[in-house]
Amino acid sequence: MSEPLRPQAVGTAHERVDGWAKVTGTAPYAYEHPVPEPAYLRPVQSTVARGRVTEVDARAATALDGVLTVLTPFNAPRLRRGYDTELEVLQSDEVWFRGQIVAAVVAETPEVARQAADLVRVTYDVRPHDVTLSADRDDLYKPDVVNPSHPTDTLTGDPDSAFESASRAVEATYTTAMYHNNPLEPHTTVALWHGENGSPALTLYDSTQGVHPLRDAVAAMFELEPERVRVVAPYVGGGFGSKGTPHAHVALAALAAARTEGRAVKFAVTRQQMFSFVGYRTPTIQRVRLAADVDGRLTGISNDIVELTSRYKEFAEQTGIPTRTMYAAAHRRTTHRLAALDVSVPSWMRAPGECPGMFAPEVAMDELAEACGLDPIELRIRNEPSHDPDSGKPHSTRNFVACLTEGARRFGWGSRPRLPRSTLDGDWWVGTGVAGSTYPVMRQPGSAWASVRYRGKGGAGTGRYEVSIGAADLGTGAWTVLTQIASDALDVSPTDVDVRIGDSDLPRAPVAGGSSGTTNWGSAVVAAARQFRDKYGPDPADGDECTAAMPDDGNGKRFAMAAYGAQFAEVRVNVYTGEIRVPRLLGVFAVGRVINPRTARSQLVGGMTMGLSMALHETSVLDERFGFVVNHDFAEYHIATCADVPSVEATWIAEDDPYPNPMGSKGIGEIGIVGTAAAIANAVHHATGVRVRDLPITNDKVFDPNLTV
Ligand code: MOS
Repeated sequence: MSEPLRPQAVGTAHERVDGWAKVTGTAPYAYEHPVPEPAYLRPVQSTVARGRVTEVDARAATALDGVLTVLTPFNAPRLRRGYDTELEVLQSDEVWFRGQIVAAVVAETPEVARQAADLVRVTYDVRPHDVTLSADRDDLYKPDVVNPSHPTDTLTGDPDSAFESASRAVEATYTTAMYHNNPLEPHTTVALWHGENGSPALTLYDSTQGVHPLRDAVAAMFELEPERVRVVAPYVGGGFGSKGTPHAHVALAALAAARTEGRAVKFAVTRQQMFSFVGYRTPTIQRVRLAADVDGRLTGISNDIVELTSRYKEFAEQTGIPTRTMYAAAHRRTTHRLAALDVSVPSWMRAPGECPGMFAPEVAMDELAEACGLDPIELRIRNEPSHDPDSGKPHSTRNFVACLTEGARRFGWGSRPRLPRSTLDGDWWVGTGVAGSTYPVMRQPGSAWASVRYRGKGGAGTGRYEVSIGAADLGTGAWTVLTQIASDALDVSPTDVDVRIGDSDLPRAPVAGGSSGTTNWGSAVVAAARQFRDKYGPDPADGDECTAAMPDDGNGKRFAMAAYGAQFAEVRVNVYTGEIRVPRLLGVFAVGRVINPRTARSQLVGGMTMGLSMALHETSVLDERFGFVVNHDFAEYHIATCADVPSVEATWIAEDDPYPNPMGSKGIGEIGIVGTAAAIANAVHHATGVRVRDLPITNDKVFDPNLTV
């Protein structure tokens, strides 16, 4: 264990250090970085879901004034093959999915680029496509691992026998929808080649969750030394995972800029294009079985999962993880099977694995509580494990029960009617529900580096400390919490610290993903600050500098580390229309030390809101005839707005855990969305008696003429 940080600035609701720049419009996002004489890119997307491009007729496009070049699969510069097929844009005539980039226009203005792109005629040799996900497909396959490297299947004991002989049992199939990430800032890349002949260099202003991971991928694709590529991303307008791995647009912008003789190329992905090639959450089909004794103690748990991937690149969502870790039972099984379809490749979306993977078992637990005649909180308490059921390791801390009991107290759970469909308020059935949340503490010792440099003449309080790390702030608060962590580690005021992030020229840092950014970056900052103090003492000289990596404390091998939470929902379902409202959501979390209550609350409330949106509103409608998502804009893909979320409250219990990192913090970016949809589904059942197992929970699924009173 590394020495815990003595919290002073950490734990306070420090104002966002990037707040003024953002509200005054001076914080540059990717598109806004000034570059001389930029050219603008517009892609041409495939109108078929499978086949080959036989011809691209760009004559009408190139005849337009202001068109600089039209890239096609037949003339585009060549990239490395076999490194990441998703990035192999315009490298072959093959069409893998509808919406794939099959050509691109670069022009003097965005308007001309768009007009010209519409004039490009693409001819296809069309083949029949298949985009239908079903658990009955005979070509489902078992991936070698599920993301990032978990076993595909797990088996302990004999869950089927446990189920056959159980006193109380639940067996049901649950489905979650396809969802598309829609951060406020769409994906954007500005690419500029420079450097001498024979020694090219590339600068990318990109909206990314990780400047170094993106740099490495682009360098690999263009077969450059990583040092020849610079990625700059000081401000990012949200990502939720969709900017955590590079997508085709980055490679395309860089390819195009190679054709514009030193001019930068700007590629701002449109909202509609975000439904085509920047990833999405796979739909899941989960067949859950729970077996229990008469007292509700689980004897068997299984979850057999079917999900999709693309034919050109595998993405295997780790949906079974919550089933493996949440509750104890002697007999347990999880399996994952994939259908490889003619669709674009799925990717990360806030709590990939945990989020969809918590919906099915947490609704099943509600069904089991009903089968046992138990309160759903009591059922969960009875099944609290003494150690991590998956790894067998002790938990560093596990305060799930404390979250449940504190939540029950705050929510007023004690007065809840036991039977469903007990409360009618005017034209509305009213009900409440609960579900658990969990998200692992991910950490990658050695992955993050930070440097501390002193600028000033020396003498206490006269100079400033520059703390540098290639971290990314997606709007989460990284600028702010790293300032707090650095100031405590240096034992100076936050106002004496200047944090620098979002540039691959800064010390190497891993992706803002897996709720691990603050753990990895903060640990490196603490290590560098401590080395700095050890080396230079309290009175450093101008230019004194130290660089250090996040140390490996070995805690990850000794402990199962995860954050927990309990979410409570109140719903109202209209008797005549089935309209569902959620007047109240409460989340109580155990997330270690909260570094900044202001930004933490915002993360947790945001996650819960996104969970509500997943439960009731969002669904990407894949038209199987044409093979694409037809509701590809905000008119038809509804994301919860203020009117949908009258009250979302997030709070936390005090949790002292020295093992995750010196700050004592656990990740908070993703746990907020885990379990929300189950809590709402359970509340809908409590309100109406209708059990909805398929997301989203829409009016048609709950409306029942018999509900009319
Ligand atoms: Mo998050 S989906 O790990 O960026």
